[in-house]
Order: sequence, then C-alpha cells, then structure tokens
Amino acid sequence: MNDPNGLVYHNGKYHLFYQYYPDGIVWGPMHWGHAESTDLLHWKQLPVALYPDTLGWIFSGSAVIDKHNTAGFGKNAMIAIYTYHNDDIWKAGKKNTESQALAYSLDEGKTWTKYKANPVLNNSGEQDFRDPKVFWHQGTSKWIMALAVGDKIKLFSSQNLKEWQEESVFKPTEKNTELGVWECPDLFSMKTDSGETKWIMIINHGDKGPNGGSCTRYFIGDFDGKTFTQTQNAKWLDHGTDYYAAVTFSNVPNDKKIVLGWMSNWQYATKVPTEVWRSAMTLPRELELIKDKNGYYLNQKMVSQLAAVTKPIFSKANVATPFEKKEIDLSQSEVRFDFSQPTDAMITLSNTKGELFTITIAGNIVVTDRSHSGQTAFHESFAAKPQVMSVEDRITSVQLVLDKSSVEILLNGGKYSMTNLCFPTEAYSEIKIITKDSIALSNFTVNAISRIW
Ligand code: FRU
Repeated sequence: MNDPNGLVYHNGKYHLFYQYYPDGIVWGPMHWGHAESTDLLHWKQLPVALYPDTLGWIFSGSAVIDKHNTAGFGKNAMIAIYTYHNDDIWKAGKKNTESQALAYSLDEGKTWTKYKANPVLNNSGEQDFRDPKVFWHQGTSKWIMALAVGDKIKLFSSQNLKEWQEESVFKPTEKNTELGVWECPDLFSMKTDSGETKWIMIINHGDKGPNGGSCTRYFIGDFDGKTFTQTQNAKWLDHGTDYYAAVTFSNVPNDKKIVLGWMSNWQYATKVPTEVWRSAMTLPRELELIKDKNGYYLNQKMVSQLAAVTKPIFSKANVATPFEKKEIDLSQSEVRFDFSQPTDAMITLSNTKGELFTITIAGNIVVTDRSHSGQTAFHESFAAKPQVMSVEDRITSVQLVLDKSSVEILLNGGKYSMTNLCFPTEAYSEIKIITKDSIALSNFTVNAISRIW
C-alpha cells in the first residue's frame, strides 16, 4: 500500500482507504483498500472499495459526507473523489493521463457505485493532474477541491461535486523548483488558542525532500473562498525520510484535524526488506495551530487514544545522565523524558547484536543515523546519509514511538517531528542517553504498546 485516501469520519467510525495493489507487494494497478476503526488504533480490514476499470487505475483522493445531498446520490452519502490514472496514455508519454471521478456509498463505505458520467473533471493538458482533496466551504456554500497540477496547486469549486469551475492557482512565493513532483494536497482552516483563524495548505513532493526523497511541507495563509494566499514561508510537516502523502480526516467531531502519513519513501518503498506486508501508516496525529514569536506552526500530538494501549514498564521521576537501561523490550514501545536543562545529547537505541539507531542533539541541530540500525543494504539511499533537522529552539522534551521497523520522534511536545524506518534483525532492547555534562532527565518513562491485531 501507499497513500492514505478518503480519510473520513462517519457515524462513529474513522474510514481509512488507501492506495493498494492487491496482487503484489510492489506498486502496480492501484485500487482503494479499506479499513475502519472506532479509535484510530484498532483497524478492521474491509473488502477493496474501488477497483480499476476502463477509465484507469484508482489513484489518490478524498471522501466527504454529503449532508445536504448536493450530488443527488442520497442524503449523507459517503462520496469518494479520486483520480483515474490511464497508464497506457502515460506510458505513451502523452498528456491527459489523469482525470477526477466520483463514487458513492450509501452503506458506510461497504459497497460503492461509480458515478455513471465519470470523469467529472478532465485534464487540462498537464501530465500530473491528481489527488483531489475536497471540503465544504461554509462561506461560499460550495465544495472546494485542491488538486496537484504539474508544479502548482489548483483550486476548483462546485455546488454538486459534478461540475467544477477553476477558481485559482497556488504557487508558493519562495523558489521551489528543486522539489519533486507535486502530489496529495490538503487545504483546511484551524484556529489558534486565542481564536485566530488561519488556513493551512499541505503539499507532498515525490522527491528531493530535506533528507532525500519524498517529503511533506505546509503553508500557512488565508483563503477567501477562491484563492489561497500564503502569509509565511513553508515548513516541513515532518523532517524524517518516512512521512509522505500526509492528509487530514474530513468530518471529525469538534473539527479536530487528525493527520495520517504513509510511513515510507518512494526512493526505496518497493525494496524495503518485508515480505507478507509492505508499508504502514504513521500513528494518527492531532494537529494544533500555534502562534509563537516566529509566526504560526502546526504542533503534532499522537492521538490521545494511544494512552489506552500503553502500559509503563519502566518509570522514574528523575534519572541522571549518562543513563543506560538494558534488557527492556522496545519492539513496540513509547519512550518519553524531559531534559532538566538544554544540553547536547545522544540517544542510542540498540540490541544485543550491536545494531543501533542514534539521535544526536547538537545545539539547534538534530540528527538521526540509521547506518548501523540493522538491514540497510536493500537500497543505496536508505542509510547513505544521516537525517538532519534544524530547530528554532533548544530541545526540552523527547517522545519516541517505536514499532518493529519504525521510530517516530516528536520533540518539544510535537513542535518538531522526524519519522524514520529501520529494520533491526532483533528488537532494540537497550536505551542509552549521554549528555555533555551530567544532568537530570525528568519524567523518564518507557511504555509497552500492546498489539492492535
Ligand atoms: C503519491 C502518489 C499519488 C498518486 C498515488 C499513486 O504517493 O504518487 O500522487 O495518486 O501515489 O499510487
């Protein structure tokens, strides 16, 4: 699987559709797989929702709940807006390969009917014309679609999801030619604590990210129902190598913004050393819009439901550095602690075979290194370079969520995030923290995370 698609909440359940090729473990003719959950953690696998047809493969897109029956498919229909990708035209090197289409479900996503007059939005001549993210805009009483079109995002509007009108084109003000193909946009509004509203546009890029390959950036700005205007420079949503195609759920109660990313990178996604499964999503994260002295940023917190599957296996109000804990099963775990004072530090996760994953904090630079983390030889770019993130302030708190083959890192309460895959041949079972001078680490906790299957 790759991208999360059609993320939508409906009648007590979160629906996760995803790019899926059921006949292999590498990318191929794409379908929409389907899973649902009541808590965003335990997922029930459901039958494939959308199959390719004569118009093409089913590429990424979004889903909405049509509360006012604007499309005429039925009140509260779940409607998927997706891209048809015609691979024959693509291979022939021609344009007009991609178009947008609708399918609807009247039984909470179990069975789907494709709209008979598909596609609803035809290509305007670009080869890359895909990944519609649609939302209802109160102000204009219209649906708005953000679409990746070549090296820009186009916004379209519609009253019925069937007829679309182009409203505007978004191209960032900063130079961005060095980033790879534009994919999977998102556009939504959020409020700060003090009630200020800003609009956020997420754009994913297939290549040339800050640490190589796929990456996700976001812009903060304003939206008047037609045009998105950025008011500050882009930021990375995650600085690691394995966080891509990230988009938010629609229709979540209390307008919460929950973001899900695909935890891989197109550089090596089809080569990772896995067999019966290939790729996973990140943990769902709840976004907060925060304003500080440098402007606005998105803070990320693992969804609060995570607490229900964690159990402390080691916990101390204070430990002194250097600190080392051996013989602790970190294979599915959460590690948290706070620095009692800013310091340069090195955090090492390792196993009895000497395989290790390191996180180094040096001033305002954070570096992760997986060159000795386990299996790395499957692709030359996987461990070629450490991953580097520069931060605006000193690191005060650390949260690591480990699964068998991933480390999700949130620093300073979620202001900074780095997501990395790693493939140790035996679970990490030791954690070591060294600092420049000996200091105290407070609230040191290791939680075991229980299996969700
Ligand atoms: C992003 C992407 C999308 C496309 C889908 C195809 O990873 O390339 O742009 O719709 O994957 O699987």
